[in-house]
This record gives sequence, structure tokens and C-alpha cells, in this order.
Amino acid sequence: MDVVYCSHTGFTREYAQLLGRAEKLRVFSLEEAGYQLEPGSEVFFLGPLMAGTITGLRAAQKRFCVLGACGVGMSPPAPQVLETLARRNGTGDLPLFYLQGGWAPDRVGWLRRHGVQWVTRSLRRQLEEKGEGRTPEEQIQLEFLIRGGSFVKPENLRPIRDWLAAGGGPTGTAP
Ligand SMILES: Cc1cc2nc3c(=O)[nH]c(=O)nc-3n(C[C@H](O)[C@H](O)[C@H](O)COP(=O)(O)O)c2cc1C
Repeated sequence: MDVVYCSHTGFTREYAQLLGRAEKLRVFSLEEAGYQLEPGSEVFFLGPLMAGTITGLRAAQKRFCVLGACGVGMSPPAPQVLETLARRNGTGDLPLFYLQGGWAPDRVGWLRRHGVQWVTRSLRRQLEEKGEGRTPEEQIQLEFLIRGGSFVKPENLRPIRDWLAAGGGPTGTAP
């Protein structure tokens, strides 16, 4: 199995490369995979979330045999995130994961930056109104929403690595 990813601002690429290094798997962008991998090859796919959609997953599924997929977003992982991802992306029983990536307002165009700022405005306002009463975590969250930042950490890959170790990856190795 190979790792295939799509990434606009680099956070998903970082996770894909960390996963490839940790599991000794080859890593390709979706574009590279298009000419370096045979159609139907078994892959694990990672893509950034945009309005709840895992970017590139559809295209990856059309060309490859996607055995598992991961959405990378800016929100902290919430309890229902996987259920919502499965519903929004119509993935059925496909093993799904979610990782918190980051937010890089200076690496996206005006329209996308303002789109995200619009969607997060009420949270930002709530945090701003707390003023001095913000907890350290809330302060970090507010700065993240305004200036951006990264939550990429190798240890976040644990659930995917455990799934791979349990044989959830390549065909024929399931326990
Ligand atoms: C237009 C747009 C829509 C987004 N929608 C979501 C979303 O629905 N959920 C989320 O958690 N993050 C969302 N994000 C944040 C990105 O998914 C996040 O920054 C991700 O880490 C980007 O990965 P990349 O650096 O690999 O492109 C959105 C970002 C943009 C620009």
C-alpha cells in the first residue's frame, strides 16, 4: 500500500510524509500518483477538508483502490467528526480518520481566507468578548483563528498507525 495525499497549504502533506516515514510506505501527491502508480493500486488517502469535503478523495477513489482515508481540517477533533465526515463524503464503510492540521491564512487566496473567517466569525467574536477572562487554551485558539498555526504532530497519527498494525491496510492481511 502507498500513501497518496492532496494538500493546498502543506499540513496534509506533512502528515502524509510523517506517516510514510513512520510506516516505511511510499508517499505520492495525487498528481504524482496519477502517473507513477498503476490504476487500481491500493492506497491510503489523506486530503484537506473544505466545507466538510475531503478534497481529492473522489478522484483518488476513481483511479485507485482506497483502503482508508483521512480528512485533515483546522478544527479540534470532536466526538461526531467521523460520522459527519462519512455522511458528507458518502464513504459508507470505508475506514475514516480525522486529523487536526492547521490554518495558514497567508497561503490561501482572498476568497477562501474570507470564507473561513466568515464561518469562524461567531467563535472568534465570543472569544474576543471574553477579554481578560480567556483561559490560556482560549487565547491559543483565538490567536490560531486570527493568525493561523499548526497542530501537526507525529503522535496524532497513532489511530491510523494502530489500524495499519491491526492489518486494516492492504488486502489479504486483515486479521
Ligand atoms: C475554503 C476552505 C474551507 C475549509 N473548510 C474546513 C472544514 O469544513 N472543516 C475544517 O476543519 N477545516 C476546514 N478548512 C481548513 C483546512 O481544512 C485546514 O487548513 C487544513 O489543514 C488544510 O490542509 P492543507 O494544508 O493540506 O491544504 C477549510 C479551509 C478553506 C480554505
